Amino acid sequence: MEIRIFTGANATMSYHETVLTLYRDAALAPADNLCCVPQSGKYLPGLVIPDIMHEMNYGCGTTLHLQDMSSDQRVLYVGVGGGLEALQFAYFTRRKGGVVAVDPVPEMRECAAKNLELAARLNDWFEPEFVTIVDGDAFQLPVDDASIDLAAQNCLFNIFKTGGDLEMALSEMHRVLRKNGRLVMSDPITPCVLPPELGNDEQLRAACISGCLTLEEYLQKIIDAGFGTIEIRSRKPYRMLDATSYGLDENVLLETIEVAAYQVPVPDDGACLFTGRTATYTGRDEDFHDGKEHVLPRNMPMPVCDKTASALSDLGRPDLVVTESTWHYQGGGCC
Ligand SMILES: C[S@@+](CC[C@H](N)C(=O)[O-])C[C@H]1O[C@@H](n2cnc3c(N)ncnc32)[C@H](O)[C@@H]1O
Repeated sequence: MEIRIFTGANATMSYHETVLTLYRDAALAPADNLCCVPQSGKYLPGLVIPDIMHEMNYGCGTTLHLQDMSSDQRVLYVGVGGGLEALQFAYFTRRKGGVVAVDPVPEMRECAAKNLELAARLNDWFEPEFVTIVDGDAFQLPVDDASIDLAAQNCLFNIFKTGGDLEMALSEMHRVLRKNGRLVMSDPITPCVLPPELGNDEQLRAACISGCLTLEEYLQKIIDAGFGTIEIRSRKPYRMLDATSYGLDENVLLETIEVAAYQVPVPDDGACLFTGRTATYTGRDEDFHDGKEHVLPRNMPMPVCDKTASALSDLGRPDLVVTESTWHYQGGGCC
């Protein structure tokens, strides 16, 4: 396989060392081929983002969704990168320590701190102290139990191996979130299980190319960590792994998804998963009650979780119209 993206790491390193080296290099010089999907940046009135933060956007989507924002939250951001999203969260919290950003790579922390100093010069409302940058890693977060309202990671968990690291990282997020707190994440996913030669290629994995799971595996890991409600807010193409360069039988189009997972117990009949499905009652009554606290007003599409969508479809009623997943759930509805 010819694809090689980064330079500093070598074959004698452990996987963790490879990851740290790769992101040290990406801190020392912006890596324009690392993560990131072409999209227009989030515009927030009165926020000027330093160019260097855009150049160091190593995320694969966004974790910033207006419906999660409030000024009194304590936000945890794991894997600070160049500080772009930490700054965006601080736009809403606007107080010392409102955002805690954790990263194990000293050069990345220094870079983020420098970029936040620059942001303070461009934004008179912002002070670098609004973001506390802390040495630490996702496997042992330097944060107390149930002390965080909103936790975020962008394009980090996909590089963690399953069977240990990924499960530990998710369990740490679950531990530090208060009850009903939210974990917002953006990661690549794959439509098929990637061949082991790719998944085991540590540089490709560390660079957010070959470590991704299928959507079903990814969601199951979140549920297994104890998150009872999950929303899929966005799903779009991320990278084409072309058959020739990556030694595949055929091209594989990776996608990136943005999810929010709630720190609520998993119900006995399974997690509530919102993927953008709706149900509409078209009968003659004013509304339809399914006997499980779901009310569908006549002719009004209501967002429903996948469990409810399936249960309503299974009723086989001609006056119930149930739509498929859009993968762009924006709130409201059952459960
Ligand atoms: C792909 S970059 C994403 C950066 C940032 N989230 C963004 O969207 O631009 C991954 C980030 O996670 C950091 N990182 C690597 N291993 C980590 C770990 N075990 N725990 C926490 N952060 C880690 C890297 O230093 C880097 O800042």
